[in-house]
Amino acid sequence: MTIDSALELGFVRVTELAAVAAAHTMGLGDRKGSDRVAVEAMREELGKMPMAGRVVIGEGERDKAPMLYVGEEVGGLKEGEGPMIDIAVDPLEGTNLCATGEPGAIAVLAASETGGLLHAPDIYMDKIVVGPTARKAPIHLDAPVSENLRHLADAFGREINELTIVVLERERHERLIADIRQAGARIRLIGDGDLSAGIAAAVRGTEIHAVMGIGGAPEGVITAAAMRCLGGEIFARLKPIGDDQKQRVADLGLSENIDALLTREDLAPGNNLLFCSTGVTGGQLQRGVRFFGGGYRTSTLFMVLHRKIIRFIDTIHRQDLESSVIFQ
Ligand code: FBP
Repeated sequence: MTIDSALELGFVRVTELAAVAAAHTMGLGDRKGSDRVAVEAMREELGKMPMAGRVVIGEGERDKAPMLYVGEEVGGLKEGEGPMIDIAVDPLEGTNLCATGEPGAIAVLAASETGGLLHAPDIYMDKIVVGPTARKAPIHLDAPVSENLRHLADAFGREINELTIVVLERERHERLIADIRQAGARIRLIGDGDLSAGIAAAVRGTEIHAVMGIGGAPEGVITAAAMRCLGGEIFARLKPIGDDQKQRVADLGLSENIDALLTREDLAPGNNLLFCSTGVTGGQLQRGVRFFGGGYRTSTLFMVLHRKIIRFIDTIHRQDLESSVIFQ
């Protein structure tokens, strides 16, 4: 099964409309409300697509999430009537960023043939994300931070103090941050959004050379799909924190795999991978949604692995054909 070009454009519309819905709530201080409108918009648009889709990463388990829960069937067709597609969604990645109007919130999804995206539970994951320049560097999750930074610096042909590492600002990262500082690299602390930071790390010119630390496992899978498309890498390991997460891992029968080192192929093994993200608030690679009288403008990163394409789609959506204000 391949995802055909008509479906491809449908996915672009899905993240565009989720981003626009969320962007309308920017700065309202209501992260749940922002997430809810993004989820609703994404689900409605997915429902119009001619596919038999299945959510493999979504808003939570069926009993906890009313929409886009894991296992929910989405799309206008039933199994056997059209292409069967697994979908990993994060309708609003960076709910706090949107609620406070900070940069880096995106609406994002990855899609693949059945089985092409790991059904990662909603627990934590330890990650190092690097771009194509450092993909083959001997970086290892278990190696000392200073060693990994040395390999990263070598790959970029520069000194460690010329690297910038993105880290989520969390108490659990105190030691990691101290180690990075000790090794001499520069750090950009972010409040949320290690997924969009990971994508930025895979694009030269963003001045981000790696993302390190513990974030969400679902975000890790979507990051892996992006890394397949961009030629970057994610080194990862599930990292349940607290009894709840450990119990979840046991319930899902994953305890045996808990120590496994995972790379992009383990997390997103699909051959027909598609990745799509639209900026909600402005970020490194994508501008946020811009509203103007009579319409709005979106910025989307759209990639299809098997078609070897990476598109930056800048779209003006005209709600009012009388409006003549089109900006360059
Ligand atoms: P939300 O959009 O669901 O709020 O997640 C944002 C995020 O910062 C992710 O980018 C990251 O992987 C995860 O949360 C980190 O989790 P926590 O906030 O629990 O440290």
